[in-house]
This record gives sequence, structure tokens and C-alpha cells, in this order.
Amino acid sequence: MPDCFLKIYYNYEKKIVNAIFQLLFKSKHSSLLSNRVNVHDYVVVSLPKLFRAIGAVKRYIKQRGGEGLSDLVFVDIGSGLGHTLQIISKVYNFKKLVGIEIDRNLCLASVKKNIPNSLIIESDALTFNFNGYHGLFYFYNPMPTSILVSVIHKIQKQVETPIFILINCKDCIEIVESLRGNIIYFDNEISNVLVFDLSLRV
Ligand SMILES: C[S@@+](CC[C@H](N)C(=O)[O-])C[C@H]1O[C@@H](n2cnc3c(N)ncnc32)[C@H](O)[C@@H]1O
Repeated sequence: MPDCFLKIYYNYEKKIVNAIFQLLFKSKHSSLLSNRVNVHDYVVVSLPKLFRAIGAVKRYIKQRGGEGLSDLVFVDIGSGLGHTLQIISKVYNFKKLVGIEIDRNLCLASVKKNIPNSLIIESDALTFNFNGYHGLFYFYNPMPTSILVSVIHKIQKQVETPIFILINCKDCIEIVESLRGNIIYFDNEISNVLVFDLSLRV
């Protein structure tokens, strides 16, 4: 589809998702996000991108004969206040939700949210041992590209079948080329979403 149509589509998609969340947050689900968070906050704006990316992962797993998301741990690298984990906990059925966050205060604030089925870990993603975390690693532009690439390499060494979702991360194309990753979904120009599987060495 031509880029101009996709741009229009994504623009409407964003508006619709924002409108839905505005309705939800201002009524019975207001606890989903704290009142201080504006629905036009980056988390909500990036939600359609994340939903699309997770949809692509779901289809990819099914194509390969897998069970689906319930077998995977969703790991938010740089989980901040836990907003994305909170939303994910309401919408998807992952095996476990894990937030890795370097900032102690943000960790404490997200732990207080009591997100179902979640584990918030105060750690530097560069030194954390991801061994045993069979899952989906989500990065919402948490760190400079050079560190991001090191974290991805480390996860690739420690985890057998890692799938990565990068949203709004800079230099996506360079990251893919340097890692020679197996791309599941790529939409760099328009909405900056990249999904790849490093379990297949290409
Ligand atoms: C843009 S926020 C992402 C928020 C969260 N992912 C969400 O979607 O709600 C980036 C977060 O990454 C954290 N961060 C930066 N470098 C990190 C590192 N090396 N290890 C763990 N967290 C890190 C920052 O403290 C910040 O909270």
C-alpha cells in the first residue's frame, strides 16, 4: 500500500485508540492509568503500534505451529512507571509480565500499581541476566542506540528464542543490519516499529 495511505490510516488508528482510551480512563477503568497521565501521553500514542507489533508476533508464532502468547514472558526493558505493563496486563494473556527498570523511584512507583502477574526488577538491563526469560522483549526508546545494541546482543546470548519489539527507537535500520535479524514486521518510515526474531540465525 502506498505510504501516503498508510500515513492516513495510522493517523486515524491513533485517533480512534486515543478516543477509546479517553472514554475508558475517564469512566470505570480510570485506575488503569493514573489520573496524572494524559491520554495523549506517549504510552497511549504508541499503543496502536504496540498492538500491531504484538499482532504480528502472534501470527508469526501461529505460522510456526506455536501456542501463542501464553507461552511467552513479556519483558519491558526500561519499564518506567509501568504504564505499558499495566495496559498489557488488561489486554493480553502473557505467561508473565516483567519490567526491568534502572531507576529505583520508578520501580517503587510501578510496584505500587500491583499490576497482575507482574514482576518489576530494579536493574540495569546491561548487567541483568536474562537466562530463562523465554519471551518478547519490548523497547520503547529506553536508551542510546549503542547501549540498546549491547543489550540486544546480551539477550541474544542468554536467551534461546528471543523476539524483540522496538518502537520509536532511533537507527532501527542500522540495528537490523548489524544484527542481521530475522524481521517479522518492519515499519520504520511511517511509525517506527520493528519486530524481529533472533532465534533464527540468518
Ligand atoms: C521512555 S521510558 C519507557 C517507559 C516504558 N517502557 C513504558 O512503555 O511505559 C524509558 C525508561 O528506560 C529506563 N532505562 C534507561 N536505561 C536503562 C537501562 N540501562 N536499564 C534499565 N532501564 C533503563 C529509564 O529509566 C526510563 O524509565
